[in-house]
Amino acid sequence: MTGVPIIAAKTPAKVELEEGKRYFWCQCGRSKSQPFCDGSHKGLDIEPISFIAEKTGAAFLCQCKASGKAPFCDGTHTRLDDLNPGDPVPDTRQSD
Ligand code: FES
Ligand code: FES
Repeated sequence: MTGVPIIAAKTPAKVELEEGKRYFWCQCGRSKSQPFCDGSHKGLDIEPISFIAEKTGAAFLCQCKASGKAPFCDGTHTRLDDLNPGDPVPDTRQSD
């Protein structure tokens, strides 16, 4: 695999989603348009995660890239104490 995801921020992004609309969540952590993909993953073996919003309204999308429920924040960012934006994402993913 070329490249690993990096932490974009240690807080989720609150965004307004529109029911039925497709979004592309940045999985690599390099987009300048967080939490969404801006094509910066080019050259990496990392693709954005596409999803269709199930309802209209606010949502908290993960920017630490370690969520076990990506693209949504699951609170994993609170366990990244020793890490900073730009650091590789540790393997903390879980499904609880
Ligand atoms: Fe990160 Fe596209 S810029 S997945
Ligand atoms: Fe909360 Fe990633 S920002 S789990």
